[in-house]
Amino acid sequence: MVHAVYPGSFDPLHNGHLDIIRRASSIYDHLTVAVLNNPLKDNKLFTIEERLAIIQATVQDISNVDTEKFEGLLADYMRVKGAKVIVKGLRAISDFEYELQMAHLNRQLNPNAETTFIMTAARWSYVSSTRIKEIARYGADVKKLVPRASLEALSRKFDA
Ligand code: PNS
Repeated sequence: MVHAVYPGSFDPLHNGHLDIIRRASSIYDHLTVAVLNNPLKDNKLFTIEERLAIIQATVQDISNVDTEKFEGLLADYMRVKGAKVIVKGLRAISDFEYELQMAHLNRQLNPNAETTFIMTAARWSYVSSTRIKEIARYGADVKKLVPRASLEALSRKFDA
């Protein structure tokens, strides 16, 4: 049983994330989408509960995927869960340097957790949560870029 963890901020979940979730869940027996909860340094648009609810609503039809928050180091979370695989998406070479550093550090902190990379689908390679929030804040349409639960949550934040 290979348990994989896809960690991130997911503020909010977008179609690039969802594509990685679908592809990773078809490779590994179980996938946990782990949302970092960092209460001390939180400049997020969505609360941890809102981010989890968006993911939960979006992945409910994928039977081997669940979602959970985590705090502290990913390496420790992997140990507690007994999970062997960290899943990361790579959009472009610009992601690589940061991800390589994280992969090496996480491996040193927890040699039992292996980082694996899935190349983001070309059609989502330009999508980021930061840009989505910026576009939605100014009232432009992001419905082609995010799942329905994210779209509804963005509308609630910005149309209020
Ligand atoms: O979606 P993001 O914000 O790029 O995700 C980053 C995340 C949550 C994967 C990363 O910040 C993380 O793993 N944070 C937990 C703390 C940690 O383990 N830091 C790395 C020390 S080497």
